[in-house]
Amino acid sequence: MANSKIADPGLAGAGKLKVAWAESRMPVLMALRAEHEKAKSLKGMRVAGCLHVTKETAVLVQTLIAAGAEISWSGCNPLSTQDDVAAALAADGISVYAWHGQSRDDFYWCIDKTLEFKPTLTLDDGADLIVRIHSARTDLAPGILGGTEETTTGVHRLRAMSDAGKLLYPIIAVNDAATKSDFDNVHGTGQSSIDGILRATSILLAGKTFVVAGYGHCGRGVASRARGMNCRVVVCEVDPINALRAAMDGFSVMPMDEAAAIGDVFLTVTGVKDIVCKRHFQKMKDGAIVCNAGHYDCEIRIPDLTSLAKKVTEIRPNNEEHLMADGRRIYLLSKGRLVNLAAAEGHPSEVMDMSFANQFLSLIRLAREGRSMEKKVYTISGEQDRTIASLKLATMGMRIDSLTGEQVRYQTDFSSGT
Ligand code: ADE
Repeated sequence: MANSKIADPGLAGAGKLKVAWAESRMPVLMALRAEHEKAKSLKGMRVAGCLHVTKETAVLVQTLIAAGAEISWSGCNPLSTQDDVAAALAADGISVYAWHGQSRDDFYWCIDKTLEFKPTLTLDDGADLIVRIHSARTDLAPGILGGTEETTTGVHRLRAMSDAGKLLYPIIAVNDAATKSDFDNVHGTGQSSIDGILRATSILLAGKTFVVAGYGHCGRGVASRARGMNCRVVVCEVDPINALRAAMDGFSVMPMDEAAAIGDVFLTVTGVKDIVCKRHFQKMKDGAIVCNAGHYDCEIRIPDLTSLAKKVTEIRPNNEEHLMADGRRIYLLSKGRLVNLAAAEGHPSEVMDMSFANQFLSLIRLAREGRSMEKKVYTISGEQDRTIASLKLATMGMRIDSLTGEQVRYQTDFSSGT
């Protein structure tokens, strides 16, 4: 407990039950744990992590420890830490600096604490830890073999650093693995965002107009879940290809300036700032619900909303009523932060199983090869993706076909056509 700062150590028992539940639903990561516990593949590694403290993350942390690593951990969002899980980790003697409801200063204080043990590997979700090292603790960089990045927004930031020639150690973009972004971003964000909205509001979704801003992997998952709940789904996009995808997936597509007047629920998941701002709030219907599932809380311009409100009341957890001068009420969920993690528990364990298997194998690769890798952003190998997909399928009891030798020859023989 000595090297932790958490909300309440008394929550450890409840946290341990949650972590055990997650373990039972993360068979791929647990199989990798069993394998690398024997090999001690991360022996001597010090891993600083900055990623949502959830029951699934606890399974990853315990797996890293089983493989021989030392850990120091902070959350990557001021509202996403599950305090009971943080307590469970601290009770096991793991250094964890995280609690729900942090200020910006608290947030960076926690990151700085994790850096005190001079990591050899870093694990990020959003790139705040890496950017902190590159701005305030460059002295640590020579001792760091490499780092991983979990999310789309973080990968964008790191590619920008790499393009500017500023990256001080190699990064593996876990987000870009097929077994991550095609599942976690789509099915995880889809389900957990709806879960967060329902926990914060308890509304009926059927018959509502649900506006999704952004039709990348995450937006696609949310839009399809909202349709499954019998909403009329409207998609707002800036990219013509994504907009076309949405249109041909059967959704209405229109600019936010039009959608603002007809939406009952608005969810931003673009990775870009100022998606919903003053002129949109001015058009919204009485009772409109606004929330975000993108990494940062800049997609909804909250100062615009508060400047229009004559009164703000927290009417239930994660739900603030903004009473406008004209009598309309607009409801902002989770202060515009990730509604799926702040109001619910994040993505379900079954999908984090694959994301964190990718994290684990990527850290092992960096421990082995980081010294000889270039200071750039790497993508995950197709081989790792196929290994994880095969393991996941096997745990789901599903078998697939394999090509015969003749079929393989046919595939590689350009001479056989019509
Ligand atoms: N990101 C989204 N859901 C998550 C979860 N359950 N644990 C950790 N990070 C997440």
